[in-house]
Amino acid sequence: MTTPRDISRSSLGNTVSYSLEAASPTAAFSSPPASQGSFMAGSFANRTAATAKQLKPFNAGDIKILLLENVNQTGRDILAAQGYQVEFLKTSLPEDQLIEKIREVHVIGIRSKTKLTAKVLQEAKNLLVVGCFCIGTNQVDLDYAAKHGIAVFNSPFANSRSVAELVIAEIITLARQLGDRSLEMHRGTWNKVSAKCWEIRGKTLGIIGYGHIGSQLSVLAEAMGMSVIYYDVLTLMAIGSARQVPTLEKLLEEADFVTLHVPETPETKNLISTKEFESMKTGSYLINASRGTVVDIPALIKAMRAGKVAGAALDVYPNEPAANGDYFVNNLNTWAEDLRGLNNIILTPHIGGSTEEAQRAIGVEVADSLVRYINQGITLASVNLPEVTMRSITLEEHDHARVIYIHRNVPGVLRKVNEILAEHNVDKQISDSKGDIAYLMADVSDVKTQDIKDIRDSLDSLNSRIMTRVLY
Ligand SMILES: NC(=O)c1ccc[n+]([C@@H]2O[C@H](COP(=O)([O-])OP(=O)(O)OC[C@H]3O[C@@H](n4cnc5c(N)ncnc54)[C@H](O)[C@@H]3O)[C@@H](O)[C@H]2O)c1
Repeated sequence: MTTPRDISRSSLGNTVSYSLEAASPTAAFSSPPASQGSFMAGSFANRTAATAKQLKPFNAGDIKILLLENVNQTGRDILAAQGYQVEFLKTSLPEDQLIEKIREVHVIGIRSKTKLTAKVLQEAKNLLVVGCFCIGTNQVDLDYAAKHGIAVFNSPFANSRSVAELVIAEIITLARQLGDRSLEMHRGTWNKVSAKCWEIRGKTLGIIGYGHIGSQLSVLAEAMGMSVIYYDVLTLMAIGSARQVPTLEKLLEEADFVTLHVPETPETKNLISTKEFESMKTGSYLINASRGTVVDIPALIKAMRAGKVAGAALDVYPNEPAANGDYFVNNLNTWAEDLRGLNNIILTPHIGGSTEEAQRAIGVEVADSLVRYINQGITLASVNLPEVTMRSITLEEHDHARVIYIHRNVPGVLRKVNEILAEHNVDKQISDSKGDIAYLMADVSDVKTQDIKDIRDSLDSLNSRIMTRVLY
């Protein structure tokens, strides 16, 4: 097998001639055999053709990765198994230290506390890619990153099952008033009641938003003997015996338990407010583990005080504190203390997706995306670059190279790029754009080391260029 090599950008890319000279044809391939690499052996490798060649940096050990905020072990293992230099810190860093560190690295892995602002990113001259080992990406200036060819990946759905399980627990907890009984016992009060306590078997669960979480929940709820109806803006195939209803109002009229699993959009702001509470069955329950803006909380307080709603579980709020502490008070949300004073209400601090399993799954998914991007240039699941993938180069294709050209989306670029590539045989090529940024990937055959350097230099000289990488 030919030693896999790569020419990458900036410190790697800017020193392309050095890189090429440094890459000995006999240099040892620094990744472990496929059978040892947890990730490449277990997931990605199996999804690619059996003879796919792993395009690598000319020396994987030159890729420097900084992982902050205690990124899960699963992600660390996957990256270390590739032979990259991985530095791991348990905490985030103050801005000055972050700037100091980010100058060095090709990859940074963060969670929600590290703010990658334009000020920080402009110091990151070698940075190829950011891995957000979490759900959201608000902490990264995505636009600045895209304009500088820095891909950003996250893991939006790895915690869907955790949320669905929490909702199942809450349905039973509300139906049996467990929160109140438990609080009473903690205060020393024995209060054995059965009035208005119910089994969930045979009750109707109304799911608003039948996406990743809503559809998982549908399966679990049916297994508990509930009948499931759902409302979604899209027409979606039902799982099991669930039934889609045509309007929100219809769902509210039929459901004993209403649970929300929609995104935060202008359309979902106060989706459940006074009018919707009026449409709900008397004595029904409301659960919101989606986004805090979706429920009009003062309207919920009124509906609960009036006995219209018999119980509620909230995991998300319009304003959430940035740190743990005694912050769930009126200063943060004017109605916080009224809410806390209600009976049969479960209040949790945005923990729907917070499980060990979800953290592990996030570690695998994001590290998987980073490896694919570093080694093959595949941008699938990137939040800020066009999503582009292409069939792998195989082990039999010795003198093939993959050219990646991230550029400004302006007229005439493809013609110029193809003029440069035309001297070689372009086996396959793909290009896509997202706003101002375009991403082109082309596999060229029969190229020698000098050809690769020439291609790279020619692409670098185009004024549309944001970043050029050549993998081989
Ligand atoms: N509590 C937590 O810790 C936690 C964890 C993960 C996700 N979430 C939140 O849960 C929500 C759902 O997540 P998901 O992964 O299932 O999302 P998803 O994108 O897979 O599904 C959302 C569904 O809502 C539908 N939808 C959009 N607008 C709608 C509207 N106005 N009315 C009805 N349906 C509408 C969409 O068509 C889609 O089917 C999101 O808001 C997400 O941020 C919370």
